[in-house]
Amino acid sequence: MKIGIVGLGYVGLVTAAVLADRGHYIVGVDIDENKVNGLNCGRIPIYEPGLEELLTKNRDRLHFTARYEELKDVELAFITVSTPTINGKIFLDYVYSAAKSLQVLPKDSIIVVKSTVVPSTSRRVKEISGREVVANPEFLREGSAILDTVRPDRIIIGSENAEAGNIVEELWKFTGSPILRTSLEEAELIKYTANSFLSLKISFINEIANLCEKLPNCDVKTIANAIGMDKRISPYFLDAGLGWGGSCFPKDTQAFVSFARDLGERLRTVEASIEVNNERPKRAVKMLKELMGSIKDKVICVLGIAFKPNTDDTRESVALKIIMQLSEEGAKVIAYDPRAKTDLAEMVSSKEECINRANGVIIVTEWKEFYGIEELLKGKYVVDGRRVLRKELMDKRYFRAIGLST
Ligand code: UDX
Repeated sequence: MKIGIVGLGYVGLVTAAVLADRGHYIVGVDIDENKVNGLNCGRIPIYEPGLEELLTKNRDRLHFTARYEELKDVELAFITVSTPTINGKIFLDYVYSAAKSLQVLPKDSIIVVKSTVVPSTSRRVKEISGREVVANPEFLREGSAILDTVRPDRIIIGSENAEAGNIVEELWKFTGSPILRTSLEEAELIKYTANSFLSLKISFINEIANLCEKLPNCDVKTIANAIGMDKRISPYFLDAGLGWGGSCFPKDTQAFVSFARDLGERLRTVEASIEVNNERPKRAVKMLKELMGSIKDKVICVLGIAFKPNTDDTRESVALKIIMQLSEEGAKVIAYDPRAKTDLAEMVSSKEECINRANGVIIVTEWKEFYGIEELLKGKYVVDGRRVLRKELMDKRYFRAIGLST
């Protein structure tokens, strides 16, 4: 098929690469001309494992442009523009402006809404564009985006027009994943429900971690492991730590809460999940202060800037909040991350240098290279915010970890 993809961020680029690899011809549109020019010269604006290789391999079937007119003969067009949360509410102007621009599509082509949007948005896209619309939310995780696209746990296809839904179903059949056909509104709601539920699991285990820290002989990892064996709970998303960040959970939970409030309903569990999460950075700093006495004028090394491993994304990263608080409290902050950068702290080029120069260390992101560094940390005050260290190798007088008894 000839397929348009509007919005060349994470979701758009990964979708483009995967569908081109399936033999489709892709026209990717973005209003950012620099990004478009870069992509046409093989410059990939984000780091995502395997993405560059896939885009390069399928170069002949990928064309990027800033001109919507180039979509005039596509059979189907995805909307993958961003849907930020502004002042606590979802901002849909990019989606609606894309819908308007997609009036250039052939009359019988289909618009597939992949951006995360609150219920009734896809219906509005249909009204604006005058084209048939299918809601097909994306569940990909940064760092494993390609695998999540070719082997998702399930595919949601929300449609009113069965024929349009069938065409999108055919497109994703190669994944072999279960396909669920739903209404437009259900498809939109599923995405928010999934993200909110996952955030809830994390905030829940983080509160249990707080309890473990106050009790003798308790480790939240043992508790999580045990409850995770219950099939009704499942072992995933039960890693206690410094909380959730990134480009999705923070904005989507907020947007969902305010969407519900506009309907006269409160999502109290989701509100609580956000509240618990907002406290995580403060707790990490408090832990370090309890260990060190004072952090004023001390050098603190922050290991990990990215919001999670295998990405250079620092959007809503807990690390940035921790750095800001440490600096406000008079510490000198140095940081190391294998991929990500920030202006908020002095970035150093290796974990060894970062640790050696510091009095105290906080591990904020569980990059693979931070496992097994117990020896390197000898003589430093250490807060393990992501439980990467082997507790039996650490000296308790200098060491605290999330969810571990003191
Ligand atoms: C998430 C959803 O997983 C994905 O389905 C959706 O499409 C977009 O949002 P992503 O933001 O890439 O994906 O990251 P994810 O792996 O879900 O992690 C989110 C945050 O939760 C990270 O900050 C991570 O560190 C944190 N997390 C995750 C925990 O603190 N504990 C866990 O057990 C799992």
